[in-house]
Amino acid sequence: MSTRQDHILVVDDSESTLRVIKRNLDAQGYTVVTATDVATAIELLEDTAFDLVVTDLRMPKVGGLDLVRHVRSNFPDAGVIMITGFASIGSAVSAMQAGAEDYLPKPFTDEELLTAVRGALQKIHLRRAARLPNSEATPPPHGMIGDSSAMRRVYDLINRAAAADATVLITGESGTGKELVARAVHYNGPRASAPFVPVNCAGIPEALVESELFGHVKGAFTSATSNRAGLFAAAEGGTIFLDEVGELAPATQAKLLRVLQEREVQMVGADRARKIDVRVITATNKDLAALVARGKFREDLFYRLHVVTIDLPPLRERGDDVLLLARHFLTRFSQQAGRPTPTLTDRAVEALRAYSWPGNVRELQNLLQRLVILTDGDELDATVLPAAMRFSIPREARALNRTLAEIEREHIEAVLASVGGNKTRAAEILGIHRKSLREKLKPTEPDSPT
Ligand SMILES: Nc1ncnc2c1ncn2[C@@H]1O[C@H](COP(=O)(O)OP(=O)(O)OP(=O)(O)O)[C@@H](O)[C@H]1O
Ligand SMILES: [Mg+2]
Repeated sequence: MSTRQDHILVVDDSESTLRVIKRNLDAQGYTVVTATDVATAIELLEDTAFDLVVTDLRMPKVGGLDLVRHVRSNFPDAGVIMITGFASIGSAVSAMQAGAEDYLPKPFTDEELLTAVRGALQKIHLRRAARLPNSEATPPPHGMIGDSSAMRRVYDLINRAAAADATVLITGESGTGKELVARAVHYNGPRASAPFVPVNCAGIPEALVESELFGHVKGAFTSATSNRAGLFAAAEGGTIFLDEVGELAPATQAKLLRVLQEREVQMVGADRARKIDVRVITATNKDLAALVARGKFREDLFYRLHVVTIDLPPLRERGDDVLLLARHFLTRFSQQAGRPTPTLTDRAVEALRAYSWPGNVRELQNLLQRLVILTDGDELDATVLPAAMRFSIPREARALNRTLAEIEREHIEAVLASVGGNKTRAAEILGIHRKSLREKLKPTEPDSPT
């Protein structure tokens, strides 16, 4: 259940061993490629970004140790597991010294293989996360954290849109970083030294929107006791960011269209329009095309707004970016609290990766801020995470070292969380009496002599 399918290269001179291993790993949802010798493996490594290489030690011509060294010096992002056919301590030690994550003495069971593979992949994911950007030495592009291919595409679009001074529409689920992208576009473009003016269209009462955006002249309406410049005027030379643009009323949509077409605004109550030089960036978490289809949003305005569209992927589609962001926020909030940055345990990492993050980056940020305040110690373990999140750890990754009581308690807490703490409904779902649920929820007594 990892966020991205891990790619594994298996190298062994025995076709039958390859078949068995591949069948096993395929069944777990990994993407598996096989090679019968090191030369082929090295070619394959050039074409695919493998997360893990599982290689036999003794092979004719070139042996597994050379492959480990090759991977270590050329693909620092990949892990290696060495299968040591002649299970001597010596060969295992050499493998680890050459940089393998783990070794697996033959013969091994399916379960031993899977445990080694999971462990090595986890090390790799942690290592990747650790490499990245706490250090101010390499500031992330536009102050945004994330190294996934989905986010790299976003950075590329930001750079192009910024340079082109184009009108930009930013779409994406709530909390994905739309405002951050809007700022990145502004501050990386030719208008960087002029104002960036964010406007939450949903936050202004409909009756006031026009005067807020375009300004008004004295006497335009009862409370207009003096001339007032609007937000467009405040953004002169710079960028206005219209957030939640899908919420604009039809009359305002018409006025905005005119601003974009004529490049001029008319203050409420004024008889002439004035030229302006403002870049317009808009954002929405609605499906604007669907709103157009339902007649809720003007089609002509829609086309004006999405000259360039930057669609932000949800956090659950950004792979290990979750860990980079988690470490970034942990560091930041710990520094603010004046305490050392705790490390994430393997189980916490697994839980963060497996969770679906409906509230995206904002949810992650809020969670880590809370955890830094509420927990002490130099480790952050999965036990301090909300139940719903611990529950999303893939079963096989957490079940093997736990007692039944622990698993039962976790399941109960997860069910409780899913029904908002309603014990009656939780008991129904669990198929037990409400009274027994209450019993089970009692804090466990310290062991008493029997
Ligand atoms: N890639 C990122 N790197 C670092 N911080 C991020 C990233 N994306 C988002 N954030 C942070 O997460 C929070 C939410 O981002 P932002 O307000 O830009 O989201 P949004 O898409 O505008 O959300 P909404 O739809 O709820 O308005 C902000 O504090 C922002 O700084
Ligand atoms: Mg926003």
